[in-house]
Amino acid sequence: MPLLQLYAVGPLTENLNLHTLQNSMRAFVGLTNRVVFGLAAFFASASVFSAGSGSQAAFGVQPVAAQYLLGLGIGDITGPVVETNMMNYKLAHASAPFKKFRMTDIAMGDTGIRRSIVSQLSELYPGLYTNENIALVSTHQHSGVGGYLEDLLPQITSLGYVKETADAIVQGTVRAVQQAHASLAPGKLSLGNTTVVDGNANRSPSAYLANPADERAKYQYNQDKDLTLLRFDDASGKARGFLSFYPVHGTSLYENNTLISGDNKGMAAYLYESMVEPSAMPGNSTFVAGFTQSNVGDTSPNTLGAFCESPGEDYDGQACDFNSSTCGGTAQDCHGRGPGFRISDFESDRIIAQYQVDGANTLMGQTLAPVSGSVRWMHTYLNIDGPGAFDFVQGDNSSQPQNPFWEIVKGAVTPQPNAQQTACQSPKPILLNTGYAHTPYNWSPDTVDIQMLRVGNFVMLIMPGELTTMAGRRLRDAIRAQLIAGDVIGPDAYVVIAGPANTYAHYVATKEEYGVQRYEGASTIFGQYTLDAYIDKYGSLVSFLADNATGAMPASDPAPPDLSSEAITLRTPVVLDSPPSGKNFGDVLADVSTTTIYHAGDTVNVQFVGANPRNNFRLEGTFLTVDQLVSGSWTAVRSDSHPSTTYQWNRTNTLTGTSTVNVTWTIEDGTWDLSDIVLWRLEALFGSITSFTSQSSEFTVG
Ligand SMILES: *[C@@H]1O[C@H](CO)[C@@H](O)[C@H](O)[C@H]1NC(C)=O
Ligand SMILES: *[C@@H]1O[C@H](CO)[C@@H](O)[C@H](O)[C@H]1NC(C)=O
Ligand SMILES: *[C@@H]1O[C@H](CO)[C@@H](O)[C@H](O)[C@H]1NC(C)=O
Ligand SMILES: *[C@@H]1O[C@H](CO)[C@@H](O)[C@H](O)[C@H]1NC(C)=O
Ligand SMILES: *[C@@H]1O[C@H](CO)[C@@H](O)[C@H](O)[C@H]1NC(C)=O
Ligand SMILES: *[C@@H]1O[C@H](CO)[C@@H](O)[C@H](O)[C@H]1NC(C)=O
Ligand SMILES: *[C@@H]1O[C@H](CO)[C@@H](O)[C@H](O)[C@H]1NC(C)=O
Ligand SMILES: *[C@@H]1O[C@H](CO)[C@@H](O)[C@H](O)[C@H]1NC(C)=O
Repeated sequence: MPLLQLYAVGPLTENLNLHTLQNSMRAFVGLTNRVVFGLAAFFASASVFSAGSGSQAAFGVQPVAAQYLLGLGIGDITGPVVETNMMNYKLAHASAPFKKFRMTDIAMGDTGIRRSIVSQLSELYPGLYTNENIALVSTHQHSGVGGYLEDLLPQITSLGYVKETADAIVQGTVRAVQQAHASLAPGKLSLGNTTVVDGNANRSPSAYLANPADERAKYQYNQDKDLTLLRFDDASGKARGFLSFYPVHGTSLYENNTLISGDNKGMAAYLYESMVEPSAMPGNSTFVAGFTQSNVGDTSPNTLGAFCESPGEDYDGQACDFNSSTCGGTAQDCHGRGPGFRISDFESDRIIAQYQVDGANTLMGQTLAPVSGSVRWMHTYLNIDGPGAFDFVQGDNSSQPQNPFWEIVKGAVTPQPNAQQTACQSPKPILLNTGYAHTPYNWSPDTVDIQMLRVGNFVMLIMPGELTTMAGRRLRDAIRAQLIAGDVIGPDAYVVIAGPANTYAHYVATKEEYGVQRYEGASTIFGQYTLDAYIDKYGSLVSFLADNATGAMPASDPAPPDLSSEAITLRTPVVLDSPPSGKNFGDVLADVSTTTIYHAGDTVNVQFVGANPRNNFRLEGTFLTVDQLVSGSWTAVRSDSHPSTTYQWNRTNTLTGTSTVNVTWTIEDGTWDLSDIVLWRLEALFGSITSFTSQSSEFTVG
């Protein structure tokens, strides 16, 4: 068996609703260099380069320390950009409100996607990429977030299963892995962390305060502020990319945003990659910057706090109620504010992204601790509803149930307790509770993926849920202690939480936070012992990461059923798509000015007769370009993934099927040497049944 594991990070959310990154999935592949491994096996040296899971030693003699075969890749996963409730960075459905559908099953979401990815990769690379060593981890974007309170309901109700979306994610992820695989080359890994203080805030500080005082006293902040970074170098020591971990929700953009976006994690990846390779188009760099989530549960990028926007009320402009996040008793007016809120939510997005970029850049400028040693992984399915799932006794209060299974079942099948309390916070959790009560099993995942990846002293706990800050700390500390106590890794064991990943299993709060029943507690769907259950389960499996592990996987519950064939596709295909009479697709309706000289900071806009972008996703492509005329030929210098551009589609008449497309470019400052460049143009690319392009008139920037 080869020694390899794959970490793919992208903008998956709890369901298929990707509000993406610059629309791309990033893949990181690590594999022990067998030559080196052979050497190690030969010398039988301590824990370094030991044999992989069940593999036969392939002896070699190359005396290179701490080398791995490493590969990195990026793939476009942007599915249908309009007429689904996915709002992305560059494309908008600006006319009709998003349609709301009841989604009957979310368990199949990420699980189904993962299954398809695994099956395609297993076919392409038999025996290499498997269900066990592929981790599919989300950057966890949202569209519908008014800031402080997380708006889960639209994510559940809006979409149904959109096959095209799923297909695009699968295709793009497989492409990212293919690119990563093709780039496999010897290299080195190193590891470090730094503090990013300003990048997040706790959105449920009152729940955090429910944790024991002596436990809280161990930490300076009520959020984890460490950004951990695993650096990938080539054999000569040149950086090829990194995978970083930092907890902050992808909710910098407000819920009224209609542009598709990767939110702050996607923006951070773009900013870093473009800093390293300024001339590469977004998503087309060879350097790959991975910004992934960690114990994200109670984090918010709205670092200024949450305030009442209640015009006419005396509490207008004041902080929302500390315990309930309400304004005058209701949640609607309570809005989080990011650091750029006076300018726009996109500015907040950029700032929060930049903090993460700065943290990563600090670490990339340092000499980090080399990582060496085994590549190991374990994966199992856990049916969280099954009796005997958790084989431990909760001993700290004899008046509480001894068998947490019953608590878990209770949590899964009945409405959460304290409906009154929940009502104080937000109407959303109440609706969710109703949902649980009516259809407990249909749409809560009852089988989750339990997975850990190890390289050297570094262990990634691939978590299906969103752990709160304190829940994450408890889990991390417990597993680290067990890794050391069990002699799996030495005292330098370094454990991170990565998630939500694989299956989406909602929130995981500590039981003290659960008692408070704020958003995260109320969304801890498997009950107050959920965290203890995960600690128990992950802890019981650490020996599968040991150097002497045989490569066998632990006993597993059955994989969740494949529901994609039963999926209800609520989206109709493109029915009618036509230009208004007397016009053709792509005709310019409102042109740029040919007489104005545009300047940095100006926005250039052109409106075209549109066609429905769902006809052609242009995966790995773009819906627009900004072209410049240099020495007589037009060169595309910007694409739809660049922050300076937007592409907005508007269905203007549903009966006749007409639509418009606006392409805008906000001219960036200082980017262009304008001395010998005279003309520019905007170009739109359309995906009707036959693809075509159309251009604005030429214009001048000076
Ligand atoms: C950051 O690294 C230091 C050692 O350099 C370690 O003590 C600390 O635990 C690390 N932080 C986290 C969150 O793992
Ligand atoms: C979106 O919501 C924010 C916060 O409530 C508000 O400040 C902003 O004006 C809204 N934007 C639009 C385009 O409605
Ligand atoms: C992407 O980069 C490659 C070189 O790495 C280049 O050949 C290709 O044209 C680029 N694609 C785009 C769309 O810029
Ligand atoms: C929040 O709730 C706690 C516990 O009920 C209470 O002690 C505290 O005074 C409340 N804080 C505010 C600001 O209402
Ligand atoms: C156990 O819980 C009960 C009520 O839930 C409480 O009254 C009692 O003090 C607790 N005992 C201990 C030892 O924590
Ligand atoms: C692996 O080594 C540990 C001691 O380091 C030992 O307790 C355990 O039984 C060994 N496992 C196997 C499968 O050999
Ligand atoms: C699209 O362009 C037209 C013509 O310039 C303009 O009137 C309209 O406001 C634009 N729409 C958007 C959403 O920017
Ligand atoms: C979309 O088109 C409709 C119908 O022409 C128009 O009323 C609306 O203002 C347009 N929306 C935008 C954002 O341009």
